[in-house]
Amino acid sequence: MTRAAITAVGHYLPEERLTNADLEKMVDTSDEWIRTRTGIRERRILRDKDKATSFMATEAAKSLIEKSGLDPSEIDAIILATVTPDMFFPATACLVQDAIGADRAWGFDLSAACSGFLFALSTGASLIESGRHQKVVVIGADKMSTITDYTDRTTCILFGDGAAAVLLEPNEDGYGLLDSLERCDGSQKDLLCMVGGGSLNPPTHETVDKKMHYLHQEGRHVFRYAVQGMADAAADIMERNGLSGDDVRYLVPHQANLRIIDATANRMGITTEKVMLNIERYGNTTAATIPLCLADWESQLRQGDNLILAAFGGGFTWGAAYLKWAYDGKQ
Ligand code: UT7
Repeated sequence: MTRAAITAVGHYLPEERLTNADLEKMVDTSDEWIRTRTGIRERRILRDKDKATSFMATEAAKSLIEKSGLDPSEIDAIILATVTPDMFFPATACLVQDAIGADRAWGFDLSAACSGFLFALSTGASLIESGRHQKVVVIGADKMSTITDYTDRTTCILFGDGAAAVLLEPNEDGYGLLDSLERCDGSQKDLLCMVGGGSLNPPTHETVDKKMHYLHQEGRHVFRYAVQGMADAAADIMERNGLSGDDVRYLVPHQANLRIIDATANRMGITTEKVMLNIERYGNTTAATIPLCLADWESQLRQGDNLILAAFGGGFTWGAAYLKWAYDGKQ
């Protein structure tokens, strides 16, 4: 059976750091509150006004190309998960296609907020498993600083900018994406959303005055759903694949809140050394969190490692994936 395996990872993070100490000067908050409630110490911010999500996604794709020796002309498709596209259309995937010279590829953006990478991975894997494509690039990229209200202490402490990309290729040896589950529930759409700018509330002076072009989150409520959704998804996928905590090498969780991640790990019966965690350094980069973890841990991964990916986000959207890692990371 043909599986879709990740065969390379690339990433990009802006240089500039926004620390908790910086935020203490901007809103009524404290380093202590942020660390204990979220686990975040700093995030990366792409300050340049003329550089948007496509810039970070392109840099991530270029790093993947450089590391893997991939010829961009061989790429069949680019799936880019984001809620901060450069513009509504053309899709940011098209801008990346042009910038990297993927002259045979098609591509599109996928909007599933914090579950974006997971959904894009599953979609890309289907293109490989069906035999239609040999090389699919899946990117998670978000410039969250452009939709964050830096006067709102309940959200501005959470988010950062970043991008990461993976290459999917066919594998006949049992490595790759072995299972995935995806869910959404639009009934809770108001708890985590950005309501301005679309066809419901096209941009006007009023939408700007009412701050409708910023992300809005009812944190406490989202927290409750997220703890349950992410832990359930991870536990379900383990159960239906007969995996115990001992079988799992790493949990690769969406990085929204350390407490949500801890609850998921507890439910899976795994200890903290088996959890990929970089929320402390990057905050919540939405679609980029999971592939950024893979990039950070790539050198430690070994062929055959069992990984459980899990995410929860706006929509609501959530899900989990079971991956058998396909290659030994280089030291
Ligand atoms: O990635 C997509 C999915 N998103 C998530 O999974 C995020 C889920 N939610 C969360 O991670 C947490 O709810 C937050 C980190 C957003 C907030 O933490 P919390 O423990 O749920 O705090 P809270 O909203 O219940 O607020 C507790 C108190 C409030 O004050 P009162 O009403 O008790 O007096 C807030 O006003 O903390 C206050 N507060 C702050 N204080 C200092 C809220 N934000 C801040 C802040 N600094 N930045």
